[in-house]
Amino acid sequence: MDPAEFARTMAHVPSPVTVVTTMDGTGRRWGFTASSFSSLSLDPPLVLVCPAKTASCHKAFVAADRFLINVLSVHQSAVARHFARSGHDKFADGSMEPCEYGLPGLSTAAARLACTLHEVLDGGDHSILVGRVDAVFTGGSEPLVYYNRDFTRPESCALTPAS
Ligand SMILES: Cc1cc2nc3c(=O)[nH]c(=O)nc-3n(C[C@H](O)[C@H](O)[C@H](O)COP(=O)(O)O)c2cc1C
Repeated sequence: MDPAEFARTMAHVPSPVTVVTTMDGTGRRWGFTASSFSSLSLDPPLVLVCPAKTASCHKAFVAADRFLINVLSVHQSAVARHFARSGHDKFADGSMEPCEYGLPGLSTAAARLACTLHEVLDGGDHSILVGRVDAVFTGGSEPLVYYNRDFTRPESCALTPAS
């Protein structure tokens, strides 16, 4: 399989845009932009998200007891870019505030899921974090979508918002 062709094909698949956050044992906050977020199971309520093994936050997430998944709204593409850039203090701008479990979150997210780490699975060059959902928040705003290597909006969702 040609990796470029695989990547090109996946660019045709629209995906949600999230910022996943946690805190390590020393109180340091960690976060990264992730489109690899999916619902997994209804009973028990499980979701998954996949940090790259090369990400600087990888170690913190596979060791985390709890994490938050902030589903970005259509107005938050700058937040997505901010948390996708390595090598700076992603929390210095104060855009995150203590949310569920006291973990940093976005009060203006389209949705937020508070998860307990259920299992970590191997996913090639990524790890698969399976989270058990303890609490959810829905903000009611339109979600941001990543499609064709760019941020866009779900036009059909604007016409028929999720109930
Ligand atoms: C739209 C978008 C989606 C992304 N999805 C993922 C993802 O699902 N998993 C991942 O490991 N990195 C993903 N990234 C890249 C990470 O956000 C980026 O490499 C991040 O800086 C890694 O964390 P670090 O700064 O701790 O190394 C995505 C980036 C963008 C712009």
